[in-house]
Amino acid sequence: MTSSQDHTPRSLTLAVPKGRVLSVLRGHLERLGFGPDAFDGSNRRLRFHAAGPLKLNLLLLKPDDVPTYVAYGAAELGVVGRDVLLERNYDLYTPVDLGIGRCTLAVAGLPQDKARYRAAEPLRVATKFPEITRRFFAESGRRVDTVFVQGSVELAPLTGLAHVIVDLVESGNTLRDNGLEVFEKIEDISSVVAVNPAAYKLRLEELTSVLEILKTPT
Ligand code: PRP
Repeated sequence: MTSSQDHTPRSLTLAVPKGRVLSVLRGHLERLGFGPDAFDGSNRRLRFHAAGPLKLNLLLLKPDDVPTYVAYGAAELGVVGRDVLLERNYDLYTPVDLGIGRCTLAVAGLPQDKARYRAAEPLRVATKFPEITRRFFAESGRRVDTVFVQGSVELAPLTGLAHVIVDLVESGNTLRDNGLEVFEKIEDISSVVAVNPAAYKLRLEELTSVLEILKTPT
């Protein structure tokens, strides 16, 4: 797949998730040549062009779509949570861990359901991460039924939708405020820079200058 027609031929395209991560990346984006209109929410544009020496475009995407753009080469690189990469299983290089958006992917439930968590066969798990969930429990030979939910996952054990959840835990407040606790940790998560493998081979020099700026703390 090629870049869209109004790209200059040798420009690079960086895909970033809208929302929390975008505001944390503000300093990095400024150093890459993007103005405040790219991240201050003052407009609804989704693509920006950097001023300055780097021929760089910026795409603002839903977090789950960042690896799709990078995998198909519509963006050479993107900022993405490891949770999204693990779930989508794309074959991308991840040369830089930005160390932002740190959290944990964990199995959680109601304290009184802990024994049931050990014994239920199949275990019913509500999650936004069905692939990670299936792989995690397959490692220990557990049979699970996953129930896909988009958000407010913590409601599932409270309502009988599922025995447990697999979800991201950052401060732990959402679990605590809903009477849930972590039963088991699955993965440490943070945001990484994912790079299209072909671009990494063919355009390493140009990519390196962008990666250097992204990995330097602001
Ligand atoms: C995420 C996640 C948890 C919560 C964890 O949800 O799915 O619900 O944050 O954060 P905490 O440990 O700091 O409370 P998000 O805020 O994205 O909303 P959602 O329920 O719509 O997914």
